[in-house]
Amino acid sequence: MADFQPLVFSGVQPTGNLHLGNYLGALKRFVALQATHRCIYCVVDLHAITNTLPESPQALRAATREVAAAFIACGIDPQANIVFNQSQVSGHAELAWVFNCVARMGWLSRMTQFKDKAGKDRENASVGLFDYPALMAADILVYRATHVPVGDDQKQHLELARDIAQKFNVDFAAAIKAEGHGEAYFPLPEPLIQGPATRVMSLREGKKKMSKSDASDNSRINLSDSTDQIAQKVRRARTDADNLPTEIAGLAARPEADNLVGIYAALADVTKPDVLRQFGNGQFSTFKAALADLAIAKLGPIAAEMRRLNADQAYIDGVLRDGANRARALATPTIDQVKDIVGFLR
Ligand code: TYM
Repeated sequence: MADFQPLVFSGVQPTGNLHLGNYLGALKRFVALQATHRCIYCVVDLHAITNTLPESPQALRAATREVAAAFIACGIDPQANIVFNQSQVSGHAELAWVFNCVARMGWLSRMTQFKDKAGKDRENASVGLFDYPALMAADILVYRATHVPVGDDQKQHLELARDIAQKFNVDFAAAIKAEGHGEAYFPLPEPLIQGPATRVMSLREGKKKMSKSDASDNSRINLSDSTDQIAQKVRRARTDADNLPTEIAGLAARPEADNLVGIYAALADVTKPDVLRQFGNGQFSTFKAALADLAIAKLGPIAAEMRRLNADQAYIDGVLRDGANRARALATPTIDQVKDIVGFLR
């Protein structure tokens, strides 16, 4: 396999209600990776129209700016890294077309997220929703990125991206070699699914993922929530009647307890056994009070910074434009080389 420069890429959809799951599963990891890697973080607005069309163009623009503001408020440095919105770099959509012709219907048909989102009315789902993972593969591979920090729910999409990269490398092997790219043109991107909260669950139902689209606002902590809302949601989070266990094994059949312990561990940068050493045998009320304080200490400043940045539209738009220019400069050579490999005249 050819040598690829380590490069991190990840994306977040501007579909409203960024929540604690997005923060712990993705944004917090994005921030940490800046110390060791070159990073590209993208607001994936093309993906945001695949499931339901936005309420209005204004709503999509506002949601796009809000995700960019969240990136920066969480600690991503848009100068040292690249922060931009997907639709400004046409290479994503161009490469997605080629990948549409590499990916197989059978592969996409197996995607559980499509099945969940399309539900029973599959005939009525948009083609974009079905095709979404091919665009996601293009997002990553147009930069030939090697590492992709995501939550656990994106694991299957990352496997698909690897399958697409691999099939492209094999289908076009002769041209890839002839064009001087050696054995493989695309790296097989590695998912980085790390930490104690890769799958944060709903605060109302321990077996359901915390999600932007859950009808109950009490099911999630939004990054924009006030400190009072955070405290109230933690206090009302569903739990069982027992005290916390002292060992991890004791969490096995207790999804709500397991979820809250995972959230605490991720927010405090410790492990779940550390949390149980501190709170095991204690009552839930004591643990919840500590969790509410911790969540407020960590998320309060982010919400305040998001509010400040949201009021400065010109700054956010400038960050996205500048990021898009730098992203385009990286994507264009890939698109040109892919055209040469496939045989498109240019
Ligand atoms: P999206 O916008 O649904 O979610 C953004 C990130 O948050 C993670 N996440 C969670 N992590 C832990 N617990 C949860 N309850 C939870 N909910 C969401 C997601 O795993 C994700 O990392 N398809 C992607 C966006 C995308 C992308 C990409 C990601 C488009 N192109 C290329 C990586 C690389 C999505 O819909 O994420």
